[in-house]
Amino acid sequence: MKRVLLFILPILILVTLGFAISGIMQARFTEEKLMDDLKRKARSVGESLELSAEYILLNNDLKQANRLVDSFQKRERLQGCVIYNKDGQILAITERFSDFKERQRPYLKDILSSKIPRGVLEKFKEYSVYSYVLPVLNDDESLLGMVEVIYDTSYMFTTLAELWRKISVTSITLILLIIAIALLIQRQIFIIPVRRLTQWFTHFQRGETDKLRPFAEKGEFGKLISEVEQVALSIRVARRTISDEAHVRLQKDELWTETKLKNLIHAKLDDNALFVVSNREPYMHVFNESTGKSACIRPASGVVTAIHPILSACGGTWIAHGSGNSDRKFVNSKDKLGVPPEDNRYILKRVWLNKEEEQGYYYGFSNEGLWPLCHNTHTRPVFKESDWLMYKEVNQKFADSVLSELPASSPFIFVQDYHFTLLPKMIKDKRPDAKVALFWHIPWPTPEAFMICPYQNEILEGMLGSDLIGFHVQNHCNNFLDTANRLLESRVDTEKFSVVRSGKETFIRAFPISIDAHIDDGSFRVDPVRQVEKLRKELELEDGIVIAVGVDRIDYTKGIVERILAIDRFLDKYPEYKKNFVFVQLAAPSRTHIKRYHDLIGKIDELVEKINRKHTDGNWKPIIYLKKHFSEDDIQPYYRLGDICIVSSLHDGMNLVAKEYVAEKSDLSGALILSQFTGAARELTDAILINPYSIEEFADSIKLAIQMPKEEKQRRMENMRKVIAENNIFRWAANIITELIALKTI
Ligand code: F6P
Repeated sequence: MKRVLLFILPILILVTLGFAISGIMQARFTEEKLMDDLKRKARSVGESLELSAEYILLNNDLKQANRLVDSFQKRERLQGCVIYNKDGQILAITERFSDFKERQRPYLKDILSSKIPRGVLEKFKEYSVYSYVLPVLNDDESLLGMVEVIYDTSYMFTTLAELWRKISVTSITLILLIIAIALLIQRQIFIIPVRRLTQWFTHFQRGETDKLRPFAEKGEFGKLISEVEQVALSIRVARRTISDEAHVRLQKDELWTETKLKNLIHAKLDDNALFVVSNREPYMHVFNESTGKSACIRPASGVVTAIHPILSACGGTWIAHGSGNSDRKFVNSKDKLGVPPEDNRYILKRVWLNKEEEQGYYYGFSNEGLWPLCHNTHTRPVFKESDWLMYKEVNQKFADSVLSELPASSPFIFVQDYHFTLLPKMIKDKRPDAKVALFWHIPWPTPEAFMICPYQNEILEGMLGSDLIGFHVQNHCNNFLDTANRLLESRVDTEKFSVVRSGKETFIRAFPISIDAHIDDGSFRVDPVRQVEKLRKELELEDGIVIAVGVDRIDYTKGIVERILAIDRFLDKYPEYKKNFVFVQLAAPSRTHIKRYHDLIGKIDELVEKINRKHTDGNWKPIIYLKKHFSEDDIQPYYRLGDICIVSSLHDGMNLVAKEYVAEKSDLSGALILSQFTGAARELTDAILINPYSIEEFADSIKLAIQMPKEEKQRRMENMRKVIAENNIFRWAANIITELIALKTI
């Protein structure tokens, strides 16, 4: 209330003063005007009385004088009139002013002697009057007498009082109106936003992150809110990280854990000085037309699977393309939000791209150009100049977004993948103190394959802005060193595994990416046995039937077509497995605006239908094809259900599905059929390795997986689980960070 008064009181005082001054001036003006009118009227009536009185005074006609006085007093507001002789004695006077005779009025003598008329304001009995006296002169200017007209002035006071009344009523009404408007404005621009900010903080304090709605305030208050939001977000993320640290410090573990990684990062990097940049965001808000609500989903992406656990453990900021159609609704004024939504551990900053940018940079140059260029699947890359220009613009946009976030001292920026080949140089040019690492999640081709790219030099130069470039396997590192050596004016140091270009050295290393394996965790959110049983029922799978699973984005590099052909061949070759074998394929539609991907979806649909039609027997069909997006939690029961997991990529940087399957098999059951053209095949040597192009060999490998003795399967699974437990995602991140920090450049 006190604050409201403080706000309103000055306005009130100013407005009241304004009205008072203008009222006084208006009253003054009116009063002067009324007085002028009265004087004018008195003068004119006095002059006409003078004319009539001249004759009367010449003849000293008293009777006529009285008649004249009577006739004049009937005029408007004229209260009376008097006729004097030249000695100043009254000859005739209006009855009600007869007492005038007794009054001493010295100025009458002055008028007689000076012969100059005069007006005077006087008080007579209860009347306030204005009397105007003027001399009556003969033709020779000799004095005959005087006439006087007397006006009542009380009407002037009545008029002025009425005026003041009107001014006061208007002023009070206006003041009340101003107070009401001021209160309303104050409520709108101050009280409501403050109330919302308070509510926001209450939810924030209670950890009710789902209730935190973004603010849309503009101007100075908007800026304040925006700053408050950023501080709150950082506190939330930091709070999470610190409490976790305290919790996990108690555990002793030989393996790389999130605790170890967290300790390493805290020791080596400043708090929250870790920045990750990728195209794909870890959380995407998508509007669901059927429910009318927005859902938060985890996109199917190797980058997301790998990087999310690192930032969850260590905090930091992840900058990515906000590609969900509802994404804008969930960010604060600086396009940021805390994620995971229910338990904020790090900050996601969304970068917005318009349709043209997304088309040119993502669908065009990244996925029609670089993607087929780097994957050896005999798919022709398409390089369009317009796509390349857009790719450059978007890289710059991301660089600007990253640069605007960087703290003053030595930040660590971890760039992901082929979408951002130009970013490292763009960042380094502006912030040479920043440590920049680029991880390439897909294969790197041979120099012969790479050299068809028209923009090879700019791409290599951009990448070499990094201090460290990581690939999954040594072979990709070697290809890159060869490429730099052959296509760029640079010096390749084969001892140090580095490329020196324009005095800048970039180290090339293999870091096989992995997953957060939870190998020794043993804790399950949902009872896995019951979950698998439920799934079996849903899919109408009979007990004892062999189940193989495949989990992929629908991409021509994943060898989904080859897989289906191999299943067809397997059933033709080994018909005893009909009705005893089912293959469940989870397929997430991906990059559907690209014709090749669109066509592939149609091709797989047709093929699945054809093979199912060919082999169907009663209620049994060999392939259950589930084409939709699956969350991480949705996928886990399928891994547990699968007696076999099939990964048949024609070429793949690593392939984390293979590792996820192994990590889920805590009972050591199951067999992994794995393409030899994946990065994972270098580590998971106990998988059944196949050449997916050889349908015959592929079909036989399915039989081998089914028939493999239990002990053999367990032994292989145990070995693979050991590899994953040791080389988990925390070790991967720790290796990159340690390497980057230890780098001694020339
Ligand atoms: O793993 C390679 C990769 O291109 C990642 O960079 C990407 O996140 C993933 O495949 C999924 O592709 P997209 O992001 O185009 O859906």
